[in-house]
Amino acid sequence: MVCCHHYVPSVGGDRAFTVDASRITFGRGCLAEVGERAAALGIRRVALITDPRIRALPLMTTVLTSLRGAGLDVVIFDEVEVEPTDRSFTAAARFAASARPDGYVSLGGGSVIDTAKAANLYATYPADFLTYVNAPIGGGQPPPGPLRPHIACPTTSGTGAEVTGIAIFDLLSLAAKTGIASPALRPSEALIDPECADTLPPQVVAASGLDVLAHALESYTARPYSRRPAPEPGGGRPLSQGANPWSDIGCREALTRAGALLPRAVASADDREAREGMMWAATLAGIAFGNAGVHIPHGMSYAIAGQVRDYRPAGYPDHAPMVPHGVAVIVNAPAAVRFTAHASPQRHLQVATWLGADTRGAAPEDAGEILAARLIELMRAVDIPNGASGVGYHEDDCPSLASAAILQQRLLQNAPCPVHEADLRQLFHDSLRYW
Ligand SMILES: [Fe+2]
Repeated sequence: MVCCHHYVPSVGGDRAFTVDASRITFGRGCLAEVGERAAALGIRRVALITDPRIRALPLMTTVLTSLRGAGLDVVIFDEVEVEPTDRSFTAAARFAASARPDGYVSLGGGSVIDTAKAANLYATYPADFLTYVNAPIGGGQPPPGPLRPHIACPTTSGTGAEVTGIAIFDLLSLAAKTGIASPALRPSEALIDPECADTLPPQVVAASGLDVLAHALESYTARPYSRRPAPEPGGGRPLSQGANPWSDIGCREALTRAGALLPRAVASADDREAREGMMWAATLAGIAFGNAGVHIPHGMSYAIAGQVRDYRPAGYPDHAPMVPHGVAVIVNAPAAVRFTAHASPQRHLQVATWLGADTRGAAPEDAGEILAARLIELMRAVDIPNGASGVGYHEDDCPSLASAAILQQRLLQNAPCPVHEADLRQLFHDSLRYW
């Protein structure tokens, strides 16, 4: 199948792509349907996974009322950490193993949803923690079979965790972010209620919105699926299967919306159209990257987040120093697109156009600079730190950031051009400051 000239067959390259998608319900007030949906999935005893902050919100009452109203027995785990670790994943799995639920509901941001995926996996198929963790850090074993049903209810408009089969965490022994990736981890359903985004602080909307934008940008510019080696018979395709005609559709919609609506969604909590539009963009971008995969900006982000010293962002609960995921990603993006644009200049120009840049008369060699300039403009419009130096990094940090980022092979191999450790050192250097 060739849907456009971008997907020409290559020798040994894959000739097909797979579309994985969760069942999605989107709309204001749909959170109140969670009980009937859980019952319809055959769940009788449900583990409700959340964090202490969300437990205190009215959203929690909505979910509990709905679940109990449908006759379900509810057990609650509310100890999810904002940046989950192998320790917090294990704590949730231990809770699930002893509570013995026959299904899961997660209510929260990406950390909560990812923790529910891990609890479901390890309680259903107990194993040493590293068994299912991505290689080369872990064993990279696929789950032996299907997991229990899981309804994901996102409360931020960013991660797309509700529609992906990826669970990200910090491995404490290596001080490195890594993950577990398998289609089996994808939640059975997602209930996406824009009402959840009404009260988010502007800094959270900005960071999560730029994460959305990066998901779509990276999926659209990823190595085309037709240039990834074809899977061995029976081997199956990787989750990061590369850009493909299905993910392209979601990327276009998500980038168009994010380019127009993100500054408005950050500027005013009352701009319902903008906040709702960003929630829909997050969903579309999540589906796209769940089928295509992200690459260099996300691969670099795990080093930026993992080696944080004392950066404490406004708008986030006051706890240990952290770089919000969306910030850790977007500070690398302008440098990354300047590096990758030569591999597919038309695609990079297309992204810039969708984001609102004027690309009329642009030459292919201008693509990286035009897209980088538009990204920087959006970062400044929503008050994002000025590159990696804005979250506390210096020139001396580039080698250690690069040696951590090079471990993200699942993502780096999905880039449109090869990327080596020396390239990453240069990319971190180029990411330090933009204006
Ligand atoms: Fe992300």
